[in-house]
Amino acid sequence: FFSAASGAIVEYTFQVQNLTVNKLCNTRVITAVNGTLPGPIINVTEGDTLVVHVINNSPYNLTIHWHGIFQLLSGWADGPSYITQCPIPPNGGIYTYRFNVTKQQGTLWWHAHVSLLRATVYGGLIIRPKSGSYPFLKPYAEVPIILGEYWNADVVAVENEALASGFVPNNSDAYTINGRPGNLYPCSVNDMYNLTVTPGKTYLLRIINAALNNQLFFKIAGHNFTVVAADASYVTPYKTDVIVLAPGQTADALFTANQYPGAYYMATHPYISAQNVGFDNTTATGLVLYQGASSSSPVMPSLPAFNDTPTANKFYTSLTSLVVAPNWVPVAPKVDQEMFTTAGLGFTPCPTCQIPIQGLQGLRFSASMNNRSFQLPTTALLQAHYYNIPGVYTTDFPNQPPFAFNYTDPSISLSPLAITLKSTSVKKLKFNSTVQVIFQNTALVGVESHPMHLHGFNFHVLAQGFGNYNATTACNKFNYYNPQIRNTIAVPVGGWAVIRFTANNPGIWFLHCHLDVHLPWGLAMAFEVDNGGTPDSTLPPPPADLPKC
Ligand code: C2O
Repeated sequence: FFSAASGAIVEYTFQVQNLTVNKLCNTRVITAVNGTLPGPIINVTEGDTLVVHVINNSPYNLTIHWHGIFQLLSGWADGPSYITQCPIPPNGGIYTYRFNVTKQQGTLWWHAHVSLLRATVYGGLIIRPKSGSYPFLKPYAEVPIILGEYWNADVVAVENEALASGFVPNNSDAYTINGRPGNLYPCSVNDMYNLTVTPGKTYLLRIINAALNNQLFFKIAGHNFTVVAADASYVTPYKTDVIVLAPGQTADALFTANQYPGAYYMATHPYISAQNVGFDNTTATGLVLYQGASSSSPVMPSLPAFNDTPTANKFYTSLTSLVVAPNWVPVAPKVDQEMFTTAGLGFTPCPTCQIPIQGLQGLRFSASMNNRSFQLPTTALLQAHYYNIPGVYTTDFPNQPPFAFNYTDPSISLSPLAITLKSTSVKKLKFNSTVQVIFQNTALVGVESHPMHLHGFNFHVLAQGFGNYNATTACNKFNYYNPQIRNTIAVPVGGWAVIRFTANNPGIWFLHCHLDVHLPWGLAMAFEVDNGGTPDSTLPPPPADLPKC
């Protein structure tokens, strides 16, 4: 199978180990790859085989996920812990991820896919076209811009505490641009990302939202962007002065250094769709400095307000796919399987928990899809699938919620409907079947936007809107011609989105909210895709070094 790849073999080694960093006036030991934060950027050409040896010298269980990579017939390398593999053991465990990078180009990324470790274990994954040319004017230079979040506390401890108490974990202490918070944070005047530009030149920014729990606005003072790709799919060039990214999403954007030669801040802060929730309302900055100009008194961009849903929605709904681009795929005309699934928060019983909401003692926060709160198994689903190990998961993930209600009515927020069922259930799909999923956010325990990420596939976003999904009115809005193609969709706050994909890859594929708090709470499910019956549609056996549980 791998010998069939037409490209080169590109090899990386990831040493995952403790790294001592000084940030925000604190010294702290974090888990990081190859001694840097963010970790190394992987550069490949479409058609290459990527081989990454991960050596886990950290004290934690670890896996790495290649976010947005199709993993055609290489599901064993996808990486979500207990979904496609058991974790690489701490203190010296090794696993080699090996996969072809085919049928896609653009900006993706990689991150740890176990507990909150991706707070510090992440980096870019850039796939360039074999032809060397883009469906837009060749930029003078390419610049990765990786947006993140940083905690003064140990993130694994933060998560464990939250899971034990049933409460919401603490917010991060800073947002970061390429690992740096910038001068608006304590002790960070020099811990700021700097980009020197040549006047008149055009740059391609490869922007990634690697933050754990927040959608982000991103701007450069005085400059406009032309967005040319999202989630490693080309889009019709879209001009904007602000970029909005949900966790997991990427955007490739051109900008030209065409302003008065000086210094300009780039800045990012969250777009918070929910009301009345605590969040870190600070702003990370970086500097764009014109070559030869003075760096004094840079211009600050005015970012949209934290709750500016109209601006976020305008960005999200304005993107369309570029139909003449390489790897573009048309919408599959026929749906074989339709699902309507709620996505939202809820509670599960927990006798020892004390959530201080009247009448709700003995409960802990949870999240669910169709009232199922996904529970990670103790054997990886893909192993159970491949070896027919019984008792690991069930195949009864429902096609709709168990009861209909007014999904977006905040007054039912704390109703008994919010009590969810724990299960490890998947949805079986026939190889090559086309699936349409309608995501409906619920207002149970708070209205907010959930960025839903599908592993292993891109999907078309046919439509999205606010309120309760209504099949009759929504289908008039479906874009069958040039819908955006993504791996992560921010389902609008108090709203819905319709996606469609073709299950042309055998294996187990995770679908979950990319807010890292909501994943351990259960806002997830998985698809189990059959083999197709030919050698090139059959999942090969696992690699010999696949970690055991
Ligand atoms: Cu980027 Cu399952 O995650």
